[in-house]
Amino acid sequence: MTDIRVSKSLNSLRGIIEIPPDKSISHRAVMFAALAKGKSLIKNFSSGADPHSTLDVFLRLGIRHNFIDEKTLEIFSEGKLQAPTMELDCGNSGTTMRLMTGILAGQKFDSVMVGDESLSKRPMRRVIEPIALMGGEILSQEGHAPLKLFGRTLHGIDYVSKIASAQVKSCVLLAGLFADGVTSVTEPFVSRNHTEIMLKYLGADVTVEGKKVSISRSALAAREIDVCGDISSAAFFIVAGLIVPDSDLILKNVGLNPTRTGILDVVQKMGGQVEVLDERESAGEPVGDIRIKYSQLKSCDIGGEIIPRLIDELPVIAVLATQAEGKTVVKDAGDLRNKESDRIAAIVCELKKIGAEIEETQDGFVINGKTPLKGGVEVETYHDHRLAMSLYVAGLVAQKEILIKDFQWVDISFPEFLSLIDSLD
Ligand code: S3P
Repeated sequence: MTDIRVSKSLNSLRGIIEIPPDKSISHRAVMFAALAKGKSLIKNFSSGADPHSTLDVFLRLGIRHNFIDEKTLEIFSEGKLQAPTMELDCGNSGTTMRLMTGILAGQKFDSVMVGDESLSKRPMRRVIEPIALMGGEILSQEGHAPLKLFGRTLHGIDYVSKIASAQVKSCVLLAGLFADGVTSVTEPFVSRNHTEIMLKYLGADVTVEGKKVSISRSALAAREIDVCGDISSAAFFIVAGLIVPDSDLILKNVGLNPTRTGILDVVQKMGGQVEVLDERESAGEPVGDIRIKYSQLKSCDIGGEIIPRLIDELPVIAVLATQAEGKTVVKDAGDLRNKESDRIAAIVCELKKIGAEIEETQDGFVINGKTPLKGGVEVETYHDHRLAMSLYVAGLVAQKEILIKDFQWVDISFPEFLSLIDSLD
């Protein structure tokens, strides 16, 4: 267990930072390469524990890999999976468990997926139900892991999801890859679409019409996949750069898929100085560099269609709002309670300890700014990497040092976090 102390940044944050690989895209790269016959090359693969859980799951399904260096690996596949001889451990990773549910439901073998304490508390009915409609069969512990999946013949469905969730959408689409007929998913707002982009890039029969995505049984091609930087990791530096006086940062190689860039829209609405430079494309995904400068910020309202486009950034956006003049209201974000922790309760409780004026609502929070964060307290991380990093950013502007308990959770998505922060000093 690693507790760390953070004190007010006396220097401005200046410099150039290479943003580490995207977690969502890294998971998909491994999964889809494992389904493609031949040798795939994945470049810039995440060092986070979550994508490594996906890699370990595929080892138990007979898929071999070879790391050429820390972030480059080859995946070798016959284009089909082998029956596992032991449980598939998804660790802390919701993306692994929910997307694998789609992949495993239509196989010719049975499998069991388990997760850690936090993952075992997260809701799985959202994927069990559509898979059952496709003819799949999954046993759970009242909607939670462990999940026992019985290999079944699946048929396509036209599924209308009540929630905008890329994990649900991807689960159904991946099951559709092995199902008879056409499988469609419609969601209330468009969630991250990395599955659709990468499946198309690898030759699958995918069509998108507004909020509806359809797929038919397809063989995937083994190709090179270059993973871009993670805007959800960049978010901590975006907020730090905006609130630490005189900062001026360039964040290199950031994924700019519009289904993920809600944070940039919020920063612009708040009057923050943000500029996108050198836009380009990588494996079908838009990518660019982001320049961010210390800014005087004003509050804004956040809700509706933008929520899935910034869902993982809301804890650090809460920190940002404490430094913006006026009342920031976040609503329609009830699903934040189902993440690695109940992120609404957790961020409200911990930021209050530091001195923020923040109140919890059923589906979000309300923040009155600009508040000096007093600090001088201990804060908890709730087994949640994004909580840990958000609190670190708050510590950079707190008047007195804060002690962050169990900071090691950061390794789930961003093991490089502290060394990148230190590189700016
Ligand atoms: C993810 C989707 C989101 C996000 C998670 C990663 C993905 O979850 O919060 O960190 O890779 O598909 P939901 O689909 O549950 O919103």
